[in-house]
Amino acid sequence: MTNTNQIGLEKKDMTQVIEKLNGLLSTYHVFYLNVRGYHWNVKGEHFFSLHEKFEELYTELQLQIDEIAERILTLGGTPFHAYSDFTQHASLKENKNVFEGRACVEGVVNGLQTLIEEQRDVSSVAEEAEDQGTADLVDEYVQTQEKHIWMYNAFLG
Ligand SMILES: [Fe+2]
Repeated sequence: MTNTNQIGLEKKDMTQVIEKLNGLLSTYHVFYLNVRGYHWNVKGEHFFSLHEKFEELYTELQLQIDEIAERILTLGGTPFHAYSDFTQHASLKENKNVFEGRACVEGVVNGLQTLIEEQRDVSSVAEEAEDQGTADLVDEYVQTQEKHIWMYNAFLG
């Protein structure tokens, strides 16, 4: 049996990268559902703009979720695909019954910050394992989400 996976990376190093990516996948799922909640439940004078912004965000998260899961498969792992695994391994807590616009935006900023922090960790573990592909994937998400934070914080004033 070979020591490397189908893309030439050490299988033993990939175990940790896959584990980290499954943790990240879990955080994404919890955040995704939080943002859907904000989209559905937000009320008040900013309803139309926030309702739409939250849809934009969860649509982006959905694409990233699929890319992360497929990266796990590319590395030779199996992505989590059950809510029980997601809630157990996520770095973010569920945020239920949030209706007020500012509170929704604060939830978004908190979720983005959590993702960024976790992705910086995934990136450094991947780089140590010479898995530049995974590092580049999550680094790109970090950049996008850093910009989102600036914008959502601008909304908060
Ligand atoms: Fe909708």
